[in-house]
Amino acid sequence: MPEHKYGKGDTGWFQKDRFGLFIHWGLYALPARHEWVRNRECITNENYQKYFDHFDPDLYDPKEWARLAKNAGMKYFVITTKHHEGFCLWDSKYTDYKAPNTPHGKDLLKPMVEAFRAEGIKVGFYYSLLDWHHPDYTIDSKHPQRDDKEFREREKGRDITKYAEYLYNQTEELLTLYKPEIFWYDFSFPGEDGKGREDWQSEKLIAMIRRICPDIIIDNRLDLPGCGDFVTPEQFQPRTAPLDKDGNPEVWEACQTLSGSWGYHRDEQTWKSPTQLIWMLVDGVSKGGNLLLNVGPTGRGEFDYRARERLEKIGEWMKYNSRSIYGCGASEYESPADCRLTYNKETNRLYLHIFNWPFKHIHLKGLRGKIKYAQFLHDASEVRIKGLEPWQHQNSGAKEADDYEMIELPIVKPAVDVPVVELFLK
Ligand code: GLC
Repeated sequence: MPEHKYGKGDTGWFQKDRFGLFIHWGLYALPARHEWVRNRECITNENYQKYFDHFDPDLYDPKEWARLAKNAGMKYFVITTKHHEGFCLWDSKYTDYKAPNTPHGKDLLKPMVEAFRAEGIKVGFYYSLLDWHHPDYTIDSKHPQRDDKEFREREKGRDITKYAEYLYNQTEELLTLYKPEIFWYDFSFPGEDGKGREDWQSEKLIAMIRRICPDIIIDNRLDLPGCGDFVTPEQFQPRTAPLDKDGNPEVWEACQTLSGSWGYHRDEQTWKSPTQLIWMLVDGVSKGGNLLLNVGPTGRGEFDYRARERLEKIGEWMKYNSRSIYGCGASEYESPADCRLTYNKETNRLYLHIFNWPFKHIHLKGLRGKIKYAQFLHDASEVRIKGLEPWQHQNSGAKEADDYEMIELPIVKPAVDVPVVELFLK
């Protein structure tokens, strides 16, 4: 009996790389009002067909996408090979509902995988368990026709085992063709009028995946307790590092949008600022996690200008500060107020990220006498270690006198979005 019933993939690289690009791309780029538009507006297959008939991303240049991701400092990407609408980006032999049959006329996935791999970026496939187009996907509480009683009655004969076979075959096809490093299923909603492991035949899927790609890492949305290599908080940052049921730290990855939608949404306005996005990345690493940051390309095949602006800004920050991200994780030391600490075990360096610029000093708990040297990461300029004299303790309110180290900062915040102090530990 193996240690883990459903096997475990290789998460070593994943926990070093820390930062990936999520891409949500499908027919929903055309209505451009959320990838759940079919569900929200109860659109039938017939009425959704116009998007298939007009799908022609003429400006699609996956090499450009891969460059943008690389410049932002991203080390892996996850693409929606099929989202809930059921449309497939690749030339699957199991369906006609695929990119090569649209006016675009070509497989979109193959050139994407090649372009990203050429930039040294690892490949992940998102695959939707839900499928609102497949004729054997039984009507449930999330289906666009959930409230249409006549339709439900008429479609009673749908056979979910046939759909499970389809999803099995497509998974096998994707794995065999591309040997991706990540498989990202989405999602289960067991219970009344929902779907879970019995519907997907999750155990069978997992066994096949591990057989074809033993090292692949799989998310935790197949509704199989104990299965999955990482957990997936979505649209929020965990307060503390997620723990498994025995209290051990989980491997985890937060997936986040740039604005409120995953697919291209023309009129959505809640775009996060570049600084906020950097905070989210740093915050995750300081709790031992990854960030999978999403872009929803347009129907012409481009990253929207607002996405590009943000990726560029993050890239600028990463150019100088990625040492505090790659290969780093949580630190055992307590972070000072308005800061986040990350730690690189191999180099024994601690990184202090300053979110809110303080006045002149930062006190570091538990670090008295333990720092060899300190510098800003962006320009390698020295940050002086001042220590804390007993009289200063009294004046500054610190009680545990000998425990704190103090560093001295310039009055004016350096011209960096989130300044980082690199602390070389003894
Ligand atoms: C949700 C949504 C979906 C999105 C996913 C990303 O499960 O259904 O639209 O793809 O989150 O994690």
